[in-house]
Amino acid sequence: MILNGNNITKQYTRRGEKFNAVNNADFFAWSGDFTVIFGESGSGKSTLLNTLAGVTEPTSGSIEIDGQPIFALKDEERALLRNERIGYIPQNTATLPAFTVAENITLSSSLYNKKVDKAHIGALLNKLGISHLANEYPQNLSGGELRRVSIARALANKPDLIIADEPTSNLDEENSHKVYRLFARLARTGVSVIIATHDKNAFGYSNRVYHMKSGALIPDVGEYGNL
Ligand SMILES: Nc1ncnc2c1ncn2[C@@H]1O[C@H](COP(=O)(O)OP(=O)(O)O)[C@@H](O)[C@H]1O
Ligand SMILES: [Mg+2]
Repeated sequence: MILNGNNITKQYTRRGEKFNAVNNADFFAWSGDFTVIFGESGSGKSTLLNTLAGVTEPTSGSIEIDGQPIFALKDEERALLRNERIGYIPQNTATLPAFTVAENITLSSSLYNKKVDKAHIGALLNKLGISHLANEYPQNLSGGELRRVSIARALANKPDLIIADEPTSNLDEENSHKVYRLFARLARTGVSVIIATHDKNAFGYSNRVYHMKSGALIPDVGEYGNL
């Protein structure tokens, strides 16, 4: 899988003033890459990830997956692409309160009439340290546990692209490393992993680093260099 973004700009208007939340960003990721986008709050990370995941159409620029411009697809085709190939973990993910953890995780497979790979999901829960919560309801879970449920849900369909927006934001060190280790292991099997974060621990797992500043995406050529 190759994800290629060219000249991505997303413009918003605030108090009558236009501004570019993402400004002419070029982004590239390959199968097996573990990419970290680092940047302070408000720098445009979530907006960029939303465009890469096919959720928000950029004002200009293109995003291609394996040469296919994703915003040239019809909405339902793009939804299918997302469901089959992209595991997206937005910054604020909601679980459905009337369903158990296990049901929340398998829901989208059930909706698309896909077979649920129980062994795979069992292994995911185990690696994320939430196996014991499978039959609980979301209201009985902590923020960090819910975060890991949303990660498991995004990985249930074995995506070949994982896009995670501050996946460890409410996790302690130990659980953050669990998440990074899981992502790193998936990257070694050829999955492309992209995360936005403030957490410097993520650098140790990544092979491709970008910094985001006021909408500009800058490849890291320094300490954590890309080459
Ligand atoms: N839907 C929107 N409408 C207007 N402004 C937005 C919208 N979404 C985000 N922004 C603004 O765009 C900038 C980048 O936001 P965001 O991508 O969420 O940054 P980050 O994820 O790095 O914190 C911020 O100034 C934010 O307030
Ligand atoms: Mg954000």
